[in-house]
Amino acid sequence: MKILILNGPNLNLLGKREPEIYGTETFEQYFETLKAKYSGIELMYFQSNSEGTLVDKIHEVGFSYDGIVMNAGAYTHTSVAIADAVSGVTTPVVEVHISNVHKREEFRHKSYLSPVCKGVILGFGLKSYELGVESFTK
Ligand code: DQA
Repeated sequence: MKILILNGPNLNLLGKREPEIYGTETFEQYFETLKAKYSGIELMYFQSNSEGTLVDKIHEVGFSYDGIVMNAGAYTHTSVAIADAVSGVTTPVVEVHISNVHKREEFRHKSYLSPVCKGVILGFGLKSYELGVESFTK
C-alpha cells in the first residue's frame, strides 16, 4: 500500500510555528515515528507552500496511490482548485488538521475540501496524521 502525506502552506514551520497551537515537534521528526509505526506501508511525504504545486502533486499520485492524507493548511478554507484536483483523481483523500478548526476563528470553519474528501480528522495534534493513515488500513 502506498500513501502520500501532503502538507500545504506554513506546515514546513511545524515545531517553530505557534507552538501553543501546533506543538513543538517538526514534521520531519514526526514522520520518522510514523514510518517506523507503519513499516508495512509505503509512506511518502511532500510539502509545498504553493497552491499549484499541491494541485500538481495530487495529479501526479492521484491515479496510482492508495490514499492521500492531506493537510492543505489555509488553502482548506479558500481553494476551489485543490478541491477540483481531489474530485478529479481516483485516489481517496482524507483531510486532516492538527488543530480543531471549529474551536478557532470563523473563517477556519469553512472547508472547500471536506465535501470532496473521503473523511475528515481534526483536532488531535500530529496524531491526526496517524489516524488519517490508519483510516486506509483494514
Ligand atoms: C491547519 C488549520 C488551518 O486553519 C491553518 O491555516 C493551518 C493548519 C491545522 O492543521 O490545524 O495552516 O490546517
